[in-house]
Amino acid sequence: MSDPLDDAGIVIVDDDDDFLDEAKRLFDGRVPTVRSIADAQRGVEEGSVDLVMLGPSFAHEAGLKGVGVLLEIDPDLAIVMVAGTITAPLLRSAMRAGLKDVIEAPLTVQSVGDAVGQIERTVRRPRPAAPPPEPYAAPAGEGKVVAVMSAKGGSGKTVTATNLAMLLAQRHDPARVCIVDADLQFGDVCLVLQLEPRLTMVNAAHELHRLDEPLLESLLTPHPSGLRVLAAPLEPAFADEISTAAMTEIITKLRGMFDYVIVDTASLLDELLLSLLERADQVLYVLDMDLPSVKNAKLALETLRILNYPATKIKLVLNRSNSKARLDVDEIERSLRLPISASVPSDGLLPASVNEGIPIVESHPKSKPARAFEDVTRIVMEARQSPQDEQKKRRFGR
Ligand SMILES: Nc1ncnc2c1ncn2[C@@H]1O[C@H](COP(=O)(O)OP(=O)(O)OP(=O)(O)O)[C@@H](O)[C@H]1O
Ligand SMILES: [Mg+2]
Repeated sequence: MSDPLDDAGIVIVDDDDDFLDEAKRLFDGRVPTVRSIADAQRGVEEGSVDLVMLGPSFAHEAGLKGVGVLLEIDPDLAIVMVAGTITAPLLRSAMRAGLKDVIEAPLTVQSVGDAVGQIERTVRRPRPAAPPPEPYAAPAGEGKVVAVMSAKGGSGKTVTATNLAMLLAQRHDPARVCIVDADLQFGDVCLVLQLEPRLTMVNAAHELHRLDEPLLESLLTPHPSGLRVLAAPLEPAFADEISTAAMTEIITKLRGMFDYVIVDTASLLDELLLSLLERADQVLYVLDMDLPSVKNAKLALETLRILNYPATKIKLVLNRSNSKARLDVDEIERSLRLPISASVPSDGLLPASVNEGIPIVESHPKSKPARAFEDVTRIVMEARQSPQDEQKKRRFGR
């Protein structure tokens, strides 16, 4: 088999002699090295370069200024940077400048090979001699989209969504489950799952015009369990870059790639949430056992009722169900005109599991909250098996 590096069209750029010498030694002189962006430009203009690998001397915001020229010549060009230390600001500057990835120094044959593999999957232009990309095995049918919502912050949406996704991964197939963090400003799915995403839905939104399944797959962050995560923007300011239309399109694509797409949301009954609900096959409404939470749930559900949203899609999950709030469960059900489908007790193990980054269904599978999340998972899996639910769409109050 031929070495993919031989045909990858790579050029390594840096003005540091030691780095260039090391790169030459590492690749036996097979990968050309140049000292400046201007030198690399020639190869890009000629069409002989597909991947520019910038050395550590570019690893700062000002160093990245020149790369725009290369991308203007060839918008499909892949630029990757090697950095001594990868910090969040550096990653952000790199993504803003249009780089495809930042890899940690020292340069190794493996890291360059990985970068080439990633770029071959994500760059559309085919290289004639490159090995054919892995065919993507599309599933039969469409996956189920489950939105987790609440009209009050802190009620337990993220713990519900993450534990549900973990259990679906365990019970079904980890490679067929994806969780989307649609809390665009303060999403913390990755934090709760102890993941450090390098790519997020911002990249997906930027690449929307050519977002095919392999490209979208490459933007997902894998959890050690096999479950995939589409991470929220890394900082609140980037939330504006995700339009409702982009999010809708991304969810539609994910539905074609996974059997279950769990969507964690923000506590805002806005256009984005309504549009997510419209696409959801099922909605888990997480309700805290306190008066403001019940009041907000009543208002939110009333709004959905006015919009003629099918009540059968909504399942109420009562969180902190054993709290001493002196609220009567029957009264809550009467007030919300929906039954409570699952109850999660208050338990100190839950905040501990969040802080550890290990969902409670993994760290304490026999605990009461973990068993409650099993009930939630059963509801989601059962409903998937009964599509006639859709046909008998009972509407609110009718
Ligand atoms: N049943 C519970 N028992 C104890 N603590 C809980 C329980 N449910 C949630 N918590 C804690 O409450 C906090 C908020 O939970 P979570 O982040 O899931 O809420 P959220 O609805 O996603 O919040 P936000 O609106 O900020 O996104 C977390 O620290 C979590 O550990
Ligand atoms: Mg949350």
